[in-house]
Amino acid sequence: MSENRICAVRLDDAAGAMIILDQTRLPGEVVYLTLTAQEEIWDAIYRLKVRGAPAIGIAAAYGVYLAARAIGARDYEGFAAEFKKAKEYLASSRPTAVNLFWALDRMERRMEAEKARPVEEIKASLREEADAICREDEEVCRAIGENGLALLKPGMGLMTHCNAGAIATARYGTALAPMYLGQERGYGFKVFADETRPLLQGSRLTAWELHEAGIDVTVCCDGMCSNVMKNGWVNAVLVGCDRVAANGDAANKIGTSTLSIVARHYGVPFYVCAPTSTIDMACATGSDIHIELRKPEEITEMWFEKPMAPAGVKAYNPAFDVTDAEFITAIITEKGVVYPPFADNLAKIMKK
Ligand code: MRU
Repeated sequence: MSENRICAVRLDDAAGAMIILDQTRLPGEVVYLTLTAQEEIWDAIYRLKVRGAPAIGIAAAYGVYLAARAIGARDYEGFAAEFKKAKEYLASSRPTAVNLFWALDRMERRMEAEKARPVEEIKASLREEADAICREDEEVCRAIGENGLALLKPGMGLMTHCNAGAIATARYGTALAPMYLGQERGYGFKVFADETRPLLQGSRLTAWELHEAGIDVTVCCDGMCSNVMKNGWVNAVLVGCDRVAANGDAANKIGTSTLSIVARHYGVPFYVCAPTSTIDMACATGSDIHIELRKPEEITEMWFEKPMAPAGVKAYNPAFDVTDAEFITAIITEKGVVYPPFADNLAKIMKK
């Protein structure tokens, strides 16, 4: 990957602001937004200006740090009460990606661990923690890339859904990380990117990222996965995820579950790429995962000059679905590749 890389989220500490790449403007425009108010940060997450489970976590960590920085209380109790309000507010922006809650909880734990120190020092340690969350995500994604690449061979055809790429993380992505590392090593992968209805993360973001990196990428409509796999063009499917339950069920962008079932039909391995921060052992199964429902207009009106459904018609718009563990060949984490039985093997890897 080029060193002049696009960065999804970063902190401008001097300006007291978070800088994000506005992912709603891609692929046409590369626009960075400077966010200072908590409402702006909440809105950027809600509207998917910053999106993808790890990037949401990083944005929340920097967001709650910026909120903490502005708290006037000099005593720990007053400070902690304000911090918790800011944390709860940011946590209400999106429900499915566990990284949002994981990052905010980690920030809160750091605050509590520093409680004996003066408030100004607690603020500085929160900055350190947010930086650590961002830095570690880059390391984690690289390790997922290495672990994923070890399962692949040069010249393979790969299919992916949504965008689990560099702009969904600190760097490299999760599902796209093996593709970037493969590109550095001359693997010559041919990638098929589902367009990903209704918000088109596949065609707007994944195709843009991979094309910019010089990786061979072909956009497919969401309904084409069976056709493309039947043609024998796909040797492995790699997807990201927003939350993995303790039994291995994995929530990811709507349409992922279909892909997993089709992949099983054609004997194509189906890999879920997940940092351990996305594994939620408190969710027993996929039924415990809160699936975000979004506005019907995203299906009927966005991206088109004219409405693409009759005025007043109902539209069902869940942002995610749950891929049943039985259709997942393996879960690729930074700590290693987890195979079934997932209930046992996820528990083991989380203890590592
Ligand atoms: O609604 P989005 O665009 O935030 O959905 C993102 C996904 O489904 C990604 O696959 C997932 O968050 C993993 S990103 C590394």
